Amino acid sequence: MMDVEQLKNTAKIMVEKGKGILAADESSPTCTKRLSSIGVKSTSESRNEYRDMLLTTDGLEDYISGVILFDETIKQSTTCNDNTPFVEYLQSKGIISGIKVDTGAKSLAHFKDEKITEGLDGLRERLIEYYKLGARFAKWRAVITIGDTLPSDACLYGNAHALARYAALCQESNIVPIIEPEVLMEGPHTIETCYEVSKRALNIVFQQLVLNHVMLEGIVLKPNMVISGSNCSVQADVERVAEMTFKCLKENVPLEVPGIAFLSGGQSSDDATAHLSKINENYLEDMPWNVTFSYGRALQNDALNAWSGSNRLAGQEALIKRANANSKATFGKAINIS
Ligand code: 13P
Repeated sequence: MMDVEQLKNTAKIMVEKGKGILAADESSPTCTKRLSSIGVKSTSESRNEYRDMLLTTDGLEDYISGVILFDETIKQSTTCNDNTPFVEYLQSKGIISGIKVDTGAKSLAHFKDEKITEGLDGLRERLIEYYKLGARFAKWRAVITIGDTLPSDACLYGNAHALARYAALCQESNIVPIIEPEVLMEGPHTIETCYEVSKRALNIVFQQLVLNHVMLEGIVLKPNMVISGSNCSVQADVERVAEMTFKCLKENVPLEVPGIAFLSGGQSSDDATAHLSKINENYLEDMPWNVTFSYGRALQNDALNAWSGSNRLAGQEALIKRANANSKATFGKAINIS
C-alpha cells in the first residue's frame, strides 16, 4: 500500500538544506569508461573497490543525504568495514540508498538522432525487490538532444510518458522517484535555445505526471541547468545561467514539488558548483523548493583521479572537498576550491 507520509518524508530528507545526492549509479559499461580513464581494469571487484572508496568517506553524511546506486552495487558490500552491505552501511550513517532502474536510453524508432529510455517491463517486480534490499528512492533518466529540428514531439512525449509511468510505479512501492529529463548540453545552441527546450520538456513532463496521478510532494526533480551549448561561441556567464535556470524552473515546476536536485551533465566541477551557488544566492527567497545537487561527474571526477586505483585517502579527500563546496552552494555560499 502506498504510504503518502513515508514518500513525502523521504523526498524531504533527500533535499534537506545543506545536503545533496551523490550519483554513483553508472552502469557497468559507463563505470568501465571511467575506470579506463585512469588505467584501471574494470571488474566487479575493481568497481566494488572504487564504490567502497567513495561511500566510506569519513563525514560524507554531513553533505550527502542519499546515494544513487547501480544494480550491481546495491548487492555489494564494503571492502573495509566487515563486509557490511553498502545499503546497511549507508543507513548507519543516515544516508538513504537509491537505485537506478531505467535500462538505458535506446534509439527512438523513426527518429534516428533521438533516444527513448527503456525499463518499464517488469519494473513493478524489480521495485519490490529493491525496496527489500533497502532502496527508498529511484532514478530514471530521459535524454533530450537539441539539434536544428530536435527535439521532436515524439521524443518529448514518449520520454515524459515513460517517466510518469515509472514514477507512478515507484510511488506504489513507497520508493521516491527522481524524475530526470536531461536536455543535453552538447551542441552549438545558445542558452536561449536551451531555455526553450528545457521549458517545453518540463512542461510536458509535469502534464504527464499529473495525468498519471503522480503525487508531486513525493518526487524529486533532477533537471539540467539552463546553460549555453558546449560548442556555442558565446558562453553565458554565471549570472545569466542563474537567471535563465530560475526563470525556467519558476515557470514550469509546481509548488508542491519538495526539491530540485540538478545533474551536472558534463559541466566542469567548478562550474556546476558556481552555478548552483549563484542560483541559491540570487533566488533563495523566491524558490518554493529546496534547490540542491545530484551530481555524478562533478562530484566524482576529482576523487576518481586522486584515487587512481589505490590512493583511497586522496580520493576521499577530493570527494569530501567537492561535497562540502556543493553543500555551501545550497545556501548560495560556495567558494572556489580549485
Ligand atoms: P552527471 O552529474 O555526471 O550528469 O550525472 C548525473 C546522473 O545521475 C546522470 O544520470
